[in-house]
Amino acid sequence: MTADELRSKFINFFVSKGHAQIQGKSLLPENDPTVLFTTAGMHPLVPYLLGEEHPAGNRLVDYQKCIRTGDIDSVGDPSHLTFFEMLGNWSLGDYFKEEAINMSFEFITSPKWLNIPVEKLGVTVFKGEEGIPRDDESAQIWIKAGIPENRIAYLPREDNWWGPAGTTGPCGPDTEMFYYIGDTPCGPDCKPGCSCGKWLEFWNDVFMQYNKNSSGEYIPLTRKCVDTGMGIERTITVLNKKSSVYDTEIFTAIIAAIEKAANCKYGENEETDRSIRIIADHVRSAAFILGDPKSVNPSNVGAGYVLRRLIRRAVRHGRKLSIEGISLAPIAEVVVEKLKNSYPELEENRASLLNELIREEAKFMETLQKGEHEFEKLLPNLLKDPRRIMPGRLAFKLYDTYGFPIELTEELASESGMKVNREEFDEAFKKHQELSRTQSGQAFKGGLGDQGEMAVKYHTATHLLHQALKAILGQHVAQKGSNITAERLRFDFTHDTPMTSDDLIKVENMVNEQIKKDLPVLMETMAIENAKSSGAIALFGEKYESQVKVYTVGISKTDFFSKEVCGGPHVEKTGTLGKFKIQKEQSSSAGVRRIRAVLTNEE
Ligand code: ALA
Repeated sequence: MTADELRSKFINFFVSKGHAQIQGKSLLPENDPTVLFTTAGMHPLVPYLLGEEHPAGNRLVDYQKCIRTGDIDSVGDPSHLTFFEMLGNWSLGDYFKEEAINMSFEFITSPKWLNIPVEKLGVTVFKGEEGIPRDDESAQIWIKAGIPENRIAYLPREDNWWGPAGTTGPCGPDTEMFYYIGDTPCGPDCKPGCSCGKWLEFWNDVFMQYNKNSSGEYIPLTRKCVDTGMGIERTITVLNKKSSVYDTEIFTAIIAAIEKAANCKYGENEETDRSIRIIADHVRSAAFILGDPKSVNPSNVGAGYVLRRLIRRAVRHGRKLSIEGISLAPIAEVVVEKLKNSYPELEENRASLLNELIREEAKFMETLQKGEHEFEKLLPNLLKDPRRIMPGRLAFKLYDTYGFPIELTEELASESGMKVNREEFDEAFKKHQELSRTQSGQAFKGGLGDQGEMAVKYHTATHLLHQALKAILGQHVAQKGSNITAERLRFDFTHDTPMTSDDLIKVENMVNEQIKKDLPVLMETMAIENAKSSGAIALFGEKYESQVKVYTVGISKTDFFSKEVCGGPHVEKTGTLGKFKIQKEQSSSAGVRRIRAVLTNEE
C-alpha cells in the first residue's frame, strides 16, 4: 500500500462513518508562544477539544503535516524522522471509547480497508495510576471486537497516557495499536511491550477526559473527546513489512535523487546511508517549512533557526557524500512532486521555496568552509586533552566569529572522539544572545497551544486593534502577521508610511473605548461566503473550511465594532482586558508596519 492510498482510505473510511473532512493546518501555529511547529494532528484542534464548537461538526477527520524536533539528533538511524504526516479522527463530545475502538478495529482488520489479520495485532490500555482507574472498559471493548485477552497489555501512564509532557491542555488515557513484525509471537505471553521487541505501534486512540491546568491538576472535561493519531510513514512501513521507513516508497524517489546527485548507492555502506537518510529527512522538513503558506525563512531565532539547522545539517552531509557537496534544490523538487497533490501549497510556493533553499545553501557553504578550517586548526591542541573534551568557549568562538552552529561543532568533535563542554558553551551563549537562546531551546520541545488567560486576552485585543487601524488609517489595512505571548501582542499590517503620533493615540483610544464599554464577544458559525459578505474580516490567501467561526465584538451580532473569521478562543467580555497600550510602531518590511502593544492593569 502506498502513502497516497492509506491517506485516502483513512479519510474515506471516516467520512463513511459520518465524519467531516477538515483541512490540515499550517506547520507554523499562529498565536501560540509555546511551540514552534504543529506536532500532532490534535494541535490545531486544542480549542475544540477544550469545549469550543467546531464549525464542521463534532466528528472530524483529516491529515496533518507535523514536525517534531525532539529527536533531531537521532535522525540518520533507520527509523527517526523530523517531518511526518498524521492521520486523525476526532469526536468532540460525540462518540467515546466504544465507537472509537470499534471503528479502529474495523478499519484495521476489514478486507475493504487495511485487511491486517487479527493474529498480527496487539493493543495496550492504561493500567491505572494516581487515582485514575485501570481502563477495563477499553479492554472489554477490544475483547468483544476480537482481540484475544492475551494480546492486551496494561501499561502505566508513561506509555498509555497522552497529553504533551510538561504542558497544559487536554489529555487522558489512551489505547495503542501494535503490529507484530515477526512470524508468530514468541510465546503465550508475547504482547506489546514484550522483550522480543517485535511489536510496532502504529495508531493511538486518546480518550480526552481531563484538562491539565497550569497548577498540574487534572480537571475533568465536561465534554469528553476522542483524539486519534496514525503516523502515515510508520504505518506504511509496517503494512509493507519493511524494517525501515527509508525503505518504503515514501522515500524511493527522494533517495534516488540523492544517489544521483552524489553518485553513490544507498544500502552499501552504513556511513553513507546515514548521510543519505539525514539529507532525505531534512530536505523533506525544510521543503514543507519553506512551502508553508505562513513560511518562515532561515534565521537565528525560533522556527527560522530550526529551519536553518535542518538545511545546514543536510548541506554538511551532502558534502560528506561528495567532495563538492550536492545541491539540495533538486531533491526538494522531488519532495514537491511527490506530495503536491496532498499539499498544493508546495506547488504554489515552489519557486520561492527553491530560491530560499539555494540562497541558504550558498550562504552556509561559505560559513562551513571557514568553520571547518578553523576547527582543523584547533584540532591538534584539542587532541592533547586526554579527557577529549573541547572547551565550550572555543565552540562558542566558532559560533560567534564564524556563525558555525554548535551542533556541527559537536558533530565534528565526535568524529574525532571528543565531546564539547556544552555547559560552558551554553553559558557563553546565554550571555551573548539571551533571546535567541530561549527561542531555539523551545524549538526542541513539543507542546500544546497556549490557551493561557493572557494569551486569550491578547487575542481579543488583536481583533480590536485590527479594526481600529482600519477605522483610523483606512480599509487598506490588512493583517500580515500576528504573534502573541503572555506578555504582549505583535501585529503586522499593510500600510505604507510610519503612523503619526496623532494616529497612534487615536488607535489606542479607540481600542480602550471598546474595552471600557465591556462589550460581549459573540461567536457564530456560518458558511465562509456568508461570513465574507456580512463584512467579517477574513485573511487574504488563507485557506478556510467551508463552515467557519466568526467572532463579533459588539452589543449584538449585527451592531458590532469588530467582526472577524477566527478559530478563537477569545474572552467573553472586553472589560476584562485591562488597559491597552501601544509600545512601538515600526517598519516590518516594505509596505508593512509592525505594532507591539501590551495590556496593563493601570488606570
Ligand atoms: N494526539 C495523539 C498522538 O499524537 C493521538 O499520538
